[in-house]
Amino acid sequence: MKIAIASDHAAFEMKEEIVSYLKEKKIDIIDLGTYTKDPVDYPDYARMLGETVSSGQVDYGIGLCGTGIGMSISINKIKGIRGALCLYPSMAELARKHNNANVLVLAGRLMGYDLAKWTVDTFLSTGFEGGRHQRRIDKISNIEEQN
Ligand code: RB5
Repeated sequence: MKIAIASDHAAFEMKEEIVSYLKEKKIDIIDLGTYTKDPVDYPDYARMLGETVSSGQVDYGIGLCGTGIGMSISINKIKGIRGALCLYPSMAELARKHNNANVLVLAGRLMGYDLAKWTVDTFLSTGFEGGRHQRRIDKISNIEEQN
């Protein structure tokens, strides 16, 4: 499994923590930055991450900002991206099972490290259920095509 990750400055420390955690688990990870606490703009990182996921270079993306909201809004503008802001493991589980989310978005300023890691683990280990949910995913794609 190959993952790309990106954050703004507000979630830089959490991003570093998750990168180390995934490396310990021997997961192949592309760290797209940011690499310091200097202020940056989350749409730039959302764009890099979303384009990396939509190009098929990685299986999933993990995006972070302070609340996760700016990252979510931005990354969902990219065709083919289904980004889900998940504050709990149960949200990550359903984002994969029902929404076939391909980007997990985390809130660096609102979540503790343990909760974030548990949410990441749940997201990466849960499959899409398909069936009736595929029809709904297809309708999301139709919205994308028609707007
Ligand atoms: C940065 O200060 C902050 O606005 C950003 O990380 C995020 O929370 C925006 O949605």
